[in-house]
Amino acid sequence: MESPFKADALKGKVALITGGGSGIGFEISTQFGKHGASIAIMGRRRQVLDSAVSALKSLGIPAIGIEGDVRKQEDARRVVESTFQHFGRLDILLNAAAGNFLASAEDLSPNGFRTVLDIDSVGTFTMCYEALKYLKKGGPGRSSSGGGTILNISVTLHYSASWYQVHVSAAKAAVDATMRNLALEWGTDYDIRVNGIAPGPIGDTPGMSKLAPKEIDGKAREQMPLYKLGDKWDIAMAALYLSSDAGKFVNGAIIVVDGGLWLSRPRY
Ligand code: HXC
Repeated sequence: MESPFKADALKGKVALITGGGSGIGFEISTQFGKHGASIAIMGRRRQVLDSAVSALKSLGIPAIGIEGDVRKQEDARRVVESTFQHFGRLDILLNAAAGNFLASAEDLSPNGFRTVLDIDSVGTFTMCYEALKYLKKGGPGRSSSGGGTILNISVTLHYSASWYQVHVSAAKAAVDATMRNLALEWGTDYDIRVNGIAPGPIGDTPGMSKLAPKEIDGKAREQMPLYKLGDKWDIAMAALYLSSDAGKFVNGAIIVVDGGLWLSRPRY
């Protein structure tokens, strides 16, 4: 589907996208690139990074893939620094890396719970922490007036409660709380906008294939106001809005992009 945004909406910007090699993260990488941004993708799997980067390059998008695990602070620092060294600036940090699996609370070990919090919550904070130096106004490669922006991929699960997702609900609640606090502190001090997007079920993603087997997929669709799954494109368009000048007065917000699904009960 064609983008309603101008092709130069992110011209000259550099975006670092964790988990940007697959699923929603890759669609955002592609759309950001198509709208003028240079793209650095962070991920754990070299092969995934390599194929994502060559796909972006085939579209004429300047792109690099840097291996790293958001759970490791030294990786976060190295990836942020490499992005800056390669492209000379950093404007957008998009946190899309996430861990997930279905497990009932009684079958989920504390270590399983901790693992998802480590990836989603601590990992997101660690990336923000390491990127701050480059995103703040007056930072390396930036003018004294304009800060960069941070965007987190969240969920709607924790707005109520969800089956077999206690770890993810807790982790993303922390991501949202962190987002608001950073929006307040860093918006005030450094002109950095920090926002989130909460996707509903999005077709053709690792999240859907992992979390919603076909029969759940069918049930969820029946309960959806718009009666369909979202596309990765829908999330990328929200990301474009929030990351570009179109969203310049939006800070500390979460845009729910789920067709209204979270309003309905019971859910998937
Ligand atoms: C129960 C599990 C489990 C499972 C792992 N664990 N998988 N417990 N059911 N299916 C437990 C392990 O037993 C272990 O605890 C602990 O978690 C750590 O497991 P490891 O395998 O050592 O962890 P690691 O190799 O680091 O893998 C992390 C991971 C992995 C989260 C478990 O699956 C992962 O990173 N997946 C890829 C990311 C992904 O799927 N992304 C899509 C996200 S979709 P013990 O006690 O045994 O040591 C998304 C959408 C959400 O976020 C919204 C949906 C609506």
